[in-house]
Amino acid sequence: MHSQCVGYSLPVPNVQALATSLNKSSLVPEKYVRPEAKVEPVASIDDIELPVIYLAKLIDPEFSNEEASKLHLACQEWGFFQLVSHGVPEELMEELKVDIAEFFRKPLEEKMAYKQDNDGTIQGYGQAFVLSEEQKLDWSDMLYIMTRPVALRNMKYWPTSPSTFRDNIDRFSLELTKLASCLCNYIAKNLGVAPEVFAQLFNDHPQAIRCNYYPPCLEPDKVVGHSPHSDATGFTFVLHVNDVQGLQIRKDGEWITVSALPNAFVVNLGDITEILSNGIYKSVEHRVMINTENARISLAAFHSPDNSIMLRPLPEVIGDGKPNYGSISYREFMKAYFDKQLEGKSVVDMLKL
Ligand code: OGA
Ligand code: NI
Repeated sequence: MHSQCVGYSLPVPNVQALATSLNKSSLVPEKYVRPEAKVEPVASIDDIELPVIYLAKLIDPEFSNEEASKLHLACQEWGFFQLVSHGVPEELMEELKVDIAEFFRKPLEEKMAYKQDNDGTIQGYGQAFVLSEEQKLDWSDMLYIMTRPVALRNMKYWPTSPSTFRDNIDRFSLELTKLASCLCNYIAKNLGVAPEVFAQLFNDHPQAIRCNYYPPCLEPDKVVGHSPHSDATGFTFVLHVNDVQGLQIRKDGEWITVSALPNAFVVNLGDITEILSNGIYKSVEHRVMINTENARISLAAFHSPDNSIMLRPLPEVIGDGKPNYGSISYREFMKAYFDKQLEGKSVVDMLKL
């Protein structure tokens, strides 16, 4: 099994069902009440836009250098950007969005046919990073599946209904892998690393897909949809499955609410890229907040390095300088990541020298 989905999480109540059962007179259960979420301010202005990167320009010789500089800056200053004109067929994206929304609309019993099964991975319908009965819980449910390498797929977690779900995820997974491979090349070049070195590190492009369902809540200020975390990936693509926003990223001590362009991929660099780049690029913390009216549905596609690599700052990036992180095998890193609840960036911080 790939380290990317090795893990364990305690079963938790289904939040979609819970949210539906609450009425105006019943309060959010204590386990979901998160006063700590109110400590840091949310930026009051809405006009901060995430950098937008045009893939079509990146691959066009006439504009490539200019767009690659924008990409480098976005990676350095934000660790986040929106990827547009990415070439993933519109019709596939629209179909997949319908499929995912439809899956979450199914009756609970039907979704529970895909529930997590304590099989040593976090694949399936449920939640991740729940390690003790005492810990506070996120206001969301997820469906997590390993999509690549194809041989590692466990089809028992892949919904058969809607009938187009599997085929659309499969096609989408391939499109994203092409995109990931392309992005790897530009990230490598921007870091002064031979693209072959990155291609080797990300050999076969292991990929997992997590579909998130964040129900609305009558007391949205009390709950957190997705605890603050950085992703233990090379990079992650987030697709807004419906138009409901709620993703926030931590920047300069504030939370900034992302307003995603339609069908853009919100791309964020993960801990693996932070370490490989010796901290030139940062994996930025993000979280999801809830609103009163509408469910937010999102898809996160995680792109990881080859299972067997040693994780350390690349010599080409360090040059004559010093490494800012210690080295650890990727497998050990992932074990540490999944052995604790989601808590900011604690595993990367542990490796800092
Ligand atoms: C994730 C994640 C953001 C979102 O799944 O790691 O950060 O908007 N998701 O659902
Ligand atoms: Ni994330």
